Amino acid sequence: MKPSTDLRDTLFVLFGAGGDLSWRLIVPALFNLHLNKRLPARFMLLGVDRADYDSDMLADHYHQGVIRFSRNGAPADDAWQEFKKTIRYVRSDINDPDSYTRLKTMLENYDLDWNDRSEKVFYLATPPTLFEPIVHGLGSSGLALDREHNRVVVEKPLGRDLESFREINDVLCLNFNEQQIFRIDHFLGKETVQNILAMRFANPIFEPVWNRRYVDHVIITVAETLGVESRGGYYDHAGALRDMVQNHLFQLLCLVAMEPPVAYDAEDIRDKKIDVLRALRPIAPDAVPDCAVRGQYDEGKIAGTHKPRYRDEPGVDSHSNTETYAALKLHVDNWRWQDVPFYLRTGKRMCADVSEISIRFRDVPHRSFPASSGLNSQPVRLVIQMHPEQGIVLKFMAKEPGSGLRLLPVDMRFSYKEAFQVDTPAAYETLLWDVMTSDATLFMRADQVEAAWRFLMPVLENWEGNPTVDFPNYASGSWGPETAEALTACDGKCWLIPTLTKP
Ligand code: BG6
Repeated sequence: MKPSTDLRDTLFVLFGAGGDLSWRLIVPALFNLHLNKRLPARFMLLGVDRADYDSDMLADHYHQGVIRFSRNGAPADDAWQEFKKTIRYVRSDINDPDSYTRLKTMLENYDLDWNDRSEKVFYLATPPTLFEPIVHGLGSSGLALDREHNRVVVEKPLGRDLESFREINDVLCLNFNEQQIFRIDHFLGKETVQNILAMRFANPIFEPVWNRRYVDHVIITVAETLGVESRGGYYDHAGALRDMVQNHLFQLLCLVAMEPPVAYDAEDIRDKKIDVLRALRPIAPDAVPDCAVRGQYDEGKIAGTHKPRYRDEPGVDSHSNTETYAALKLHVDNWRWQDVPFYLRTGKRMCADVSEISIRFRDVPHRSFPASSGLNSQPVRLVIQMHPEQGIVLKFMAKEPGSGLRLLPVDMRFSYKEAFQVDTPAAYETLLWDVMTSDATLFMRADQVEAAWRFLMPVLENWEGNPTVDFPNYASGSWGPETAEALTACDGKCWLIPTLTKP
């Protein structure tokens, strides 16, 4: 990692400066980089929006955001005052071509003052409907031309299907080249997610068993107790498949299933990830019900508190057919994984907040122990815990002390907190740092996003063409709809209650 003294002067242009994403995630992350002395010595945060703000008002708004959402809590006054000096508000109408010309002049003036050609990051923290005018504006004003120093960052959702993704991507690629485009999937910035590669490829002991000979199946779970909160307007047009599976869960799948990269570099890693998506067994339209299950939450209780049904959430259609839970059964058709099922599930208002990947190993080939020993009461599993626990657990069988032979499951654990005694940086801190240093390893390449959409199209089309009759079909505070059980049960498997959750 480069020391911040090696970072070049940076102008960070934040479109959607008054929005929720900027307030909750981006600015607190930039502030924490500032606290950790990981911002360039010369740095300006230019917040672009159309509201009637000024720089002081924007800074005060961000101050509140940092107090509420930073992992470090309320900032010390001197640290905040120092950071505040970097914030400048740029009132602008993104549909007006002149505003980009003015922006360009402003950026050039900073370069003149600094006597440097600075790095320019254009971060689009706006609804995706605004990507096109902004990217065109940047392109036609010449702000995309400096391939080496200027880059653009876009957030998911990148489209709502294959076609709309291609439209957005065409606009991006018309104005910027691929090396300048940073597509964020914030899961890739999580330490525990990055550690999947470290665990698999920095240790010789996992790879030999990481294949169809030893692995029986893999379960990826990302469950949230939160509902849609204030995002009903967006979510009701998206649903769990688009909001979580197409991006976050597929990233996890790729990291677990990919081949070893030759080198830890952006292109090689992304090539290996796309190989996984290319190897996914396509889901035929008539096979969708056998491979995909959807659910929508009903009212229920979580931690003793009553929660409303999805259809009663603000911004949600009272007859909504949008799924808040999605589960898929997938196969990666290659030498390593042939016939090993991968089960993916994600949902809102579930029983617990937990994200983990469970690698379930095959049973022993021959049972030397008597049936009464209890062998196979719990199979050997390796659990990669991403949230709330952060670590890795190997669950295996051991002999219970005492006379007789009784085997019981035990855990061998690695915990991030205990091992490193540090607070892990928030995903956005890692990703923003990488954008500033122009390292695209943890960002999505266009072909990967496209492959994910292409694969999911039969499911999206089937679900859109066949409204459900059973929604809502799971209670808030449960593990999802009962229909999801069939997805694993027909293969003689079951969803396991995630490890170490205390519902
Ligand atoms: C976002 C989704 O991308 O990820 C949200 O839009 C979801 O619906 C969130 O809640 C989960 O991220 P995290 O980091 O809180 O696990």
